[in-house]
Amino acid sequence: MKKILITRKLLRTCEDKAKETFEANFNLNDELYSQKKLIELSAGQDGILSSLTDKLDSDTIKKLPDTIKIISNFAVGFGNIDLEAAKNRGIAVTNTPDVLTDATAEIGVLLILGACRRAAEGIDSAKEGGWKWSADYLIGKQLTGARLGILGMGRIGQKIAKVAKSLGMVIHYHNRSKLSADKEDGATYHDNLKDLLSVSDVLSVCCPASKETVDMINKDTIEYLPKGAVVTNVARGDIIEDEALIDALNRRKVYAVGLDVYKNEPNLNPGYLKHKSAFILPHLGSATKETRTAMANLAIDNIDEFFKTGNCKNKVNR
Ligand code: DGY
Repeated sequence: MKKILITRKLLRTCEDKAKETFEANFNLNDELYSQKKLIELSAGQDGILSSLTDKLDSDTIKKLPDTIKIISNFAVGFGNIDLEAAKNRGIAVTNTPDVLTDATAEIGVLLILGACRRAAEGIDSAKEGGWKWSADYLIGKQLTGARLGILGMGRIGQKIAKVAKSLGMVIHYHNRSKLSADKEDGATYHDNLKDLLSVSDVLSVCCPASKETVDMINKDTIEYLPKGAVVTNVARGDIIEDEALIDALNRRKVYAVGLDVYKNEPNLNPGYLKHKSAFILPHLGSATKETRTAMANLAIDNIDEFFKTGNCKNKVNR
């Protein structure tokens, strides 16, 4: 049986499956392993089942033992792993696409609703009590008729578009390439970021983090947004330059933000905390029982497939 280091606790049924599939080395206390500890614990292991909280950068990957042949990431995103470094060491990296599309899109829609309809302020007021209803109390932005700009129209972007369309939003998107009419489903394609931002009353960031997308939403590109736009991010914190977005909130260039992901999680930029119009969540994208179960099972299956066939359909470092 192959020996696999599982860096974080999984749901019980998934740990049972892991035990049946390989000799699993579990993290019983669910502690966050340092890079040094990850390297130490990898000794004698054939693979690692990692999570997005493990920073497998180039230096860490260089120091992994030769026995490690696969890093199976328990996430669709893999910005926590240096793919090139893994490739140079002959280590396959896999992810868990598809199974988290619905759950993550649900949070994407929640961010849009929460930010536009001032949910953070509403929750605070309801808990404080004593709020006084009036015709102009906590007036927000109506979604019906508003233009939603989707940056990255992959599986999650398409699902958000579908729900937003049913709420009466008008969908625009920017992607590396234009989608087929079937996948576009009436959305308007923009072949550059500037054009997308200039029509985005609400922006939903859904693209993966990569060298090309880091800080794509920055002090210059924010200026392309209409005044009073809403910015939401369900993808990765690295795509947004926090200081620029916080500054845009301060100057009311941006009306509200809805964020589930941050640079340097869990230590988000404190500038967001000062803003009542920041609707912020602690990276809940895939957090449902069904989805976390499906993700862990897929991460296990990816390892199994790799050792059985020498390849894996969800390999991301070709
Ligand atoms: C992912 O898998 O990349 C999600 O962000 C997890 O919630």
